[in-house]
Order: sequence, then structure tokens, then C-alpha cells
Amino acid sequence: MINTSIAQPKIELYKLLRALSLAMDYNRNGLMRHHQRVALICSYIAKEMQLESAKLPQLLCSAVIHDAGTSTFHEKADLEQFEVNNPWRHCQKGYQLLSNMPVLLPLAEIILHHHDRWDGQNPSGLSGSAIPLLSRIIFLADRVDVLAGRPGNILDCRPEIVRQINARSGTMFDPELINVFNKVADKESLWLDLTSQFIDINLDRRLHTCPVITGQSEIIGISQIFAEIIDGKSPFTHRHSRLVAEVAAFLAGQAGFTNTQQKNIYVAGLLHDLGKLSIPEEILEKPAGLSRQEFNIIKQHTYITYQILSMINGFEEINQWAAYHHEKLNGEGYPFHLTGADMPTGSRIMAVADIFSALVEDRPYRKGLPRHRVEEIMIRMAETRSIDREILQILMDNYKEAENIKEALAVG
Ligand SMILES: [Fe+2]
Ligand SMILES: [Fe+2]
Ligand SMILES: [Fe+2]
Repeated sequence: MINTSIAQPKIELYKLLRALSLAMDYNRNGLMRHHQRVALICSYIAKEMQLESAKLPQLLCSAVIHDAGTSTFHEKADLEQFEVNNPWRHCQKGYQLLSNMPVLLPLAEIILHHHDRWDGQNPSGLSGSAIPLLSRIIFLADRVDVLAGRPGNILDCRPEIVRQINARSGTMFDPELINVFNKVADKESLWLDLTSQFIDINLDRRLHTCPVITGQSEIIGISQIFAEIIDGKSPFTHRHSRLVAEVAAFLAGQAGFTNTQQKNIYVAGLLHDLGKLSIPEEILEKPAGLSRQEFNIIKQHTYITYQILSMINGFEEINQWAAYHHEKLNGEGYPFHLTGADMPTGSRIMAVADIFSALVEDRPYRKGLPRHRVEEIMIRMAETRSIDREILQILMDNYKEAENIKEALAVG
């Protein structure tokens, strides 16, 4: 149906993780940039202690994704306490998510230990210098950021932050790292960088060489991790991103997309709801209809997906396929109010795959719908030009296969 040739993207691992992890940096107060801020503190410490330059990419890549084991605002709120109750669960979850991919395995091991205390009694069984150095640095930076996120001018807050951190030298934190921290804490630039609008630019300046991902399979693997984080927001969206991705790739194959394009639309499907990480879970899980105010909050999710994916070089088409999934051919979708002329085939496929998936999945207020109900609803949507009639026809012609995809995911 379409015939654009797609160059193999050449993407820096750090930039990919940093862009995607922005979606994890939302909490009830909005975009807090916790992962970027932790990476920035880590980079100051690394420079001061003259950390081997080969270790810097590993440190910063781990830092920008260290809380991958959390999805909900509720889980994030727990980690915003200075003394966290049972941090081990999210460390293990982060490890499980990342350890399946060879390129991320070294990061997984660092993340597993990023709340290990220096004095031991850790569920990991490690203490002192047996805890990986990069985990120790992230732990310190992470706790500094929790204190630095509190209200007030950051330079006014600095003495109290330094006091609290030093009070835990030798108990929570590695004493040698505290000495390093005290040196960097003297620099106003650390604190001003942390709270500035220019944190992105600063982070870019601080890492000169980074592993590059060239294989589509690595991009798929990383996108699968984020799909799990997104779907972890609610038990009702459990596997939604996977289902949309698989149905979209299947429909794209039927529509004549090349193999590479099918893999790219799979990636787009995995990431289409990335912006949902910015939405409170009680709105996502609301048992009845949404109020106008709640729907206005929901509407931000595709906008955020779009803005984040637009930061990744080589993701231009994937972004359109992912972020336009609530646009409608008749111009009444959101957030861009595109019309048919502006909606690529991949975006139309994604919209159909998303609606099909949402209808066949269980929701808090109803069970998944049977075929005749799905057909009835989607045919009406095609008649009002909300969705593409031809793509819908492909789905209807292959309904059994689409249903099988859902069944296979439910079992797996
Ligand atoms: Fe953490
Ligand atoms: Fe953290
Ligand atoms: Fe959506």
C-alpha cells in the first residue's frame, strides 16, 4: 500500500534511553526530570573522581533508566521519601526488565544494586565495596536528588542537603564517595544545572562517546521494555501495548508493508501510549465515564508520545505512526486534528489496531466485547470517517487471526 524506503536508524543508546525515560519522569506534580537529574549528579561525581572514561556511558545509561522498575505515581511517591521502605522490589523489577537484552545486561546489574546500603543488611546480600561502584554512585545521586526536589531556592537548600547526606556517610553511603560529593557540592553550577531549563543541553555535553544501536532487534527489545513499563500503569492495560503492536504489524503485513516497515510499526505500537505514563492511574482505571476535565488530562498522552519520540533521530515515521493513533480522518481526533490527507497509512493502521485492542480487552467497567459488537462499533466509526474503511476491511477479512494474536498474548 505504501512504498517508502526506510534507512536503518543509527541511534545512540544513551539518547534513546534518555528520551524514552522522560516519560517515566512524570509524577503527580508533572515532569520532574528525576532520571536526567540523577544522571547529571552522577556525571559531576564521575568527573571529580576521575572515573574511567569507559565506564561513563554505562553510568549515565543506567542513571537515566534506574527506576525502570516503577510505573505508577503511587510507586514513584514511595521513592520520593528519603528513607524508602522496601526499595528492593523496583530494583529487582528493573533488573528483570533489562537483563534479557545483552546490550542492557551491564545496566541491569547496576540497577539491581542502586539502593544497596554501604553498611549491608541488603536483600542483595552485598555490602561495602562489594556493591558495584556505579550502583553506589547512582544511589548517592538518587538520594541527593530526592532532597534537592523539595521546595525552596536550591542554593538556600544546599547546606541542609549536604548535612543530611553527610550524616549517612558510612551507613547508607560509601564514605569515599561522600568526600567526592562534598567537593562537587561546593560548585553552584551543580545545583543550578539541576534546576535549570538547560539540563538536556548539559547532559549532552557530558557524554562524548556512547554505544550506538544499529540493529532493529535492539530497538524492538528496548521498546518492549518501555511497553511493559507503560502497561504496568494499570492491570487493565496489561499487555495492551504488545497487543496493539502485534495487531498493527499483522495488519501492515496484509496491507503490503515491507518487513522492515512491519518491524517499525511494531515499535510504534509498543510506544504508542508512552505518554500514558504522565496520567494518574486512577483516571486510566476509572470504572465509569470520564468527566470533561479527566478527558482533557487523557488527551495529553499522545501529545507527550509525539514530543518524546520526536527527540529520537530516525524515529520520524515511527513517531507519526505511534502518536497519531487518536487522530481521525474527519479531523475530529486529538491532539493535532489532522485530516485524512495528513494521516499516513501506518497511523491509520495504528488507530484501527488500538480501537480493536481496546474493544476486545477487558476494562474496569466491562468484559472484552464479542466479534459482532466490535464489528458494529467499528463499522459505525468507518461510516463517520473516524477510521479508515480499507484498513477496517483488512481487519474484518482477517478477524480470526487478530483474535488469535490476543489469545496467544493472554496465554503467554
Ligand atoms: Fe530507585
Ligand atoms: Fe530514583
Ligand atoms: Fe492512546
